[in-house]
Amino acid sequence: MIAPLKVGIAGLGTVGAEVVRLIEQKGGAMAARCGRAVRVVAVTARSKAKKRGLDLRGIAWARNPQALAENPEIDCLVELIGGAGEPALSAIEAALKSGKSVVTANKALIARHGPRLAKTAEAHGAALNFEAAVGAAIPIVKTLREGLPGTSINRVYGILNGTCNYILTRMEQEGLSFAECLKDAQRHGYAEANPSFDVDGHDTAQKLAILASLAFGTRVAESAIYVEGISSIAPEDLRAAAELGYRVKLLGVAVRTAKGIEQRVHPTMVPKSTSIAQVMGVTNAVTIDGEGIPPITLVGPGAGGLATASAVVADIADIARGVRVTPFGRPVERLRTTEKAPMERHEGGYYIRLMARDLPGTAAAIATRLAEQKISIESIVQRHTNGVDAARGAGKASQVPVILITYATHEDAVYRALHAVQRDKVISGRPQVIRIEKN
Ligand SMILES: NC(=O)c1ccc[n+]([C@@H]2O[C@H](COP(=O)([O-])OP(=O)(O)OC[C@H]3O[C@@H](n4cnc5c(N)ncnc54)[C@H](OP(=O)(O)O)[C@@H]3O)[C@@H](O)[C@H]2O)c1
Repeated sequence: MIAPLKVGIAGLGTVGAEVVRLIEQKGGAMAARCGRAVRVVAVTARSKAKKRGLDLRGIAWARNPQALAENPEIDCLVELIGGAGEPALSAIEAALKSGKSVVTANKALIARHGPRLAKTAEAHGAALNFEAAVGAAIPIVKTLREGLPGTSINRVYGILNGTCNYILTRMEQEGLSFAECLKDAQRHGYAEANPSFDVDGHDTAQKLAILASLAFGTRVAESAIYVEGISSIAPEDLRAAAELGYRVKLLGVAVRTAKGIEQRVHPTMVPKSTSIAQVMGVTNAVTIDGEGIPPITLVGPGAGGLATASAVVADIADIARGVRVTPFGRPVERLRTTEKAPMERHEGGYYIRLMARDLPGTAAAIATRLAEQKISIESIVQRHTNGVDAARGAGKASQVPVILITYATHEDAVYRALHAVQRDKVISGRPQVIRIEKN
């Protein structure tokens, strides 16, 4: 009979408390599956006195995460504190250096220090598992790390932030503004009081950095990612997208190009017919494009105590079974360094919304500037405003929204053309530009 795997848990918040409960409730099933029992023997959090609805009798309380990591009674440290630095970083390093395996849900830490921690894990023959760091219950880390060794991956992209997808879904379905939907998301507890980390795309970028490393064998590099959030998206963009057969999603995209691995996070128009376009509300999804096979899409809950705990427990079960895989699917010294791909050279289709002056020659001027940059137009929609335009009363020309969809072109060509159009004074305000991701 193999001795139980003795686990120490640092952090008993939303995720940590659920992990303790899940191991307690599913211990029998886990032992049957792993051929070995899993036991929580020690825990720690900031406050020992806090009521958590957990029965911690018989479980030791460590005075801090470092002491827990160094406790010789545990075989595996589960880090559920969060944050890209201390105390999580030192606790994980201490555990790995003493040969203990580590499970973490900490995307910020893996995005910042992943290669360094993986190197320590490899040197000491320990596992470093982080399934819950991306997409919570969706087993995307395992899929990329272990599930497709014979497939060359060309692109991995996904909806990795439930808050943004919730906001974009409400905006599309109810015609509401970004600000209204953000307030609503905060009321429902889907968005933080300071929502910038989510809505400006940084949460998605940390997760994408991890997925890109697993998919392409590159060193995790958050700084190599181009990041743009969703706050500039207007209800009229979502309406126009719908009419043209698209939806707008905040995507994290990592793609193999002739110039290297391009990694980017930005609002993206995706054809309504794609699996990713069907993903609504707080749900997450990741699509993998592998050479020679149709796309694989995994969809599921990307946050929440129980969903995240499910992935943490899966990682613990692997350690109990004795599964040891290099953290990024290949030895750290084989991971390649990536440079930030310049977005000016990004190639793809574009959605452009302009407020054009309703004057003779405007359409021709716009068409000329696009043609100068060799940009071909797939479709053009000119909307007519109902009623009297406010500007007309002031003796000025009225304005009409013009929506253009381009064929694939370079980003710098699009911006050169739009700057020229602005100089021609045939539009007012800043043009709205959204990149299109086709399958
Ligand atoms: N929540 C989710 O849906 C979700 C989804 C995916 C990944 N994650 C990741 O899971 C991790 C945990 O998230 P969470 O939502 O469970 O966070 P949380 O609810 O804020 O819990 C954090 C826990 O860490 C403890 N803690 C904080 N600072 C500490 C310190 N200096 N020393 C010891 N303990 C400390 C807190 O103690 P007290 O309870 O005493 O304050 C609390 O128990 C994060 O890395 C997060 O990114 C979360």
